[in-house]
Amino acid sequence: MSTTVEVAPVARLVGHVAVPGDKSISHRAVLLGAICEGETRITGFGRSADTEATIAVVRALGAEVDEDGVDSLRVRGKGLAGLAAPDGPIDCANAGTLVRLVSGILAGQSGRAFTLTGDESLSRRPMERIAEPLRRMGALVETVDGHLPLTIEGRPLGAIDYALPVASAQVKSAVLLAGLYADGETTVVEPAPTRDHTERMLAAAGASVTIRPTSVTVRRAERLSLGRLEIPGDFSSAAPFLVAATLVPGSELHVHGVNLNPRRTGLLAILERMGARITVYNRREVGGEPAGDLEVHSAPLVGAVVARDEVPVAIDELPLFALAAASARGESVLRGAEELRAKESDRIDAVVTALRAIGAHVEGRPDGFVIRGVPARPRGGAIDSLGDHRMAMLGAVAGVVSREGVRIAGPECAEISFPGFYDVLASVVETGEIGTE
Ligand code: S3P
Repeated sequence: MSTTVEVAPVARLVGHVAVPGDKSISHRAVLLGAICEGETRITGFGRSADTEATIAVVRALGAEVDEDGVDSLRVRGKGLAGLAAPDGPIDCANAGTLVRLVSGILAGQSGRAFTLTGDESLSRRPMERIAEPLRRMGALVETVDGHLPLTIEGRPLGAIDYALPVASAQVKSAVLLAGLYADGETTVVEPAPTRDHTERMLAAAGASVTIRPTSVTVRRAERLSLGRLEIPGDFSSAAPFLVAATLVPGSELHVHGVNLNPRRTGLLAILERMGARITVYNRREVGGEPAGDLEVHSAPLVGAVVARDEVPVAIDELPLFALAAASARGESVLRGAEELRAKESDRIDAVVTALRAIGAHVEGRPDGFVIRGVPARPRGGAIDSLGDHRMAMLGAVAGVVSREGVRIAGPECAEISFPGFYDVLASVVETGEIGTE
């Protein structure tokens, strides 16, 4: 039975928030911890349904994970080649990052066979994109018509030079992780820069990694050790707050301790082009990643064009770009973003349906959308999350910025990446008279 919540318009957003630890880095920390020597101590872990699936998977593979607190873990690794094959299938739940990255590691567990499964949404997502390069490296990999269940038998691997057919950090990471086990140098070439957390963390763990602007090379590793790792807040979880505070007049909001890796913050650059007033302060480094605090003041926006090269660095925030564009003056266009169709939902269709339902003017395209902005609050209406956490959070932001509120069907999936999201949002909203500007 799916539930609904009604998110009411707010007068403004004020105050301070912190967001959960970066989900991409949290997955990687646990996975890499499982193949390190000794103990990896993780603080700032972004606990969520997705990252809990990763903890369960490394436990099923024989690594021990002590949960010292909500956001601190100790992972006792089995070494690079020491993972055990469980008797039954390994459930990756809703987590695309988990299934793609763990496949790269399992490809190197020579002589052991594994079966990976997932929920209904993950079972619809493409898996040949990892199966194909891992086969080229020598692993035995099978999918069911390109989908889960995926079976993988580890083999002695050989290095490859791989030009990614799609700009995907998950595919890049799968090949790089398999490259730890391969004879020779494995190089992945990217069509456009994607998030680089895997290569940063591999280097920190002692692997031989060469990072260039559009390619990464990794060499076979004998042993890895991470020691301690602190994870900064997730920019993707900060993004709903940045957009809400930008759109609701009179807002002044601070978001603290956010990962500002330039391969993640494309939305910041886009919002700045649109006229947003977002300032970064307290710049620092957290766990080998650039981080800082953000101060957001509301601002009137103008439309923007987002083209293919910018898509990977804003990929999970593009639905929020659409909402910002709906309230901006003039036309906005997204191009080269067909990858959005391969996410937890078809996020092009989902955004078009959701924004039309709240009164915005949106046209879908095979590779993006065109939005005719109206510089005013959108009317409001009903948005279905479709079980996609980013769509649920989009619905909530649409609700607070709207005139009449938004009813979200299936809001609970926000916990896939951000447990407590609605409470954090409620903690910074002020009700009162809604401006009609
Ligand atoms: C992720 C990469 C992106 C992103 C996903 C997390 C990662 O997917 O959409 O939410 O942690 O590597 P793709 O690499 O498939 O684009």
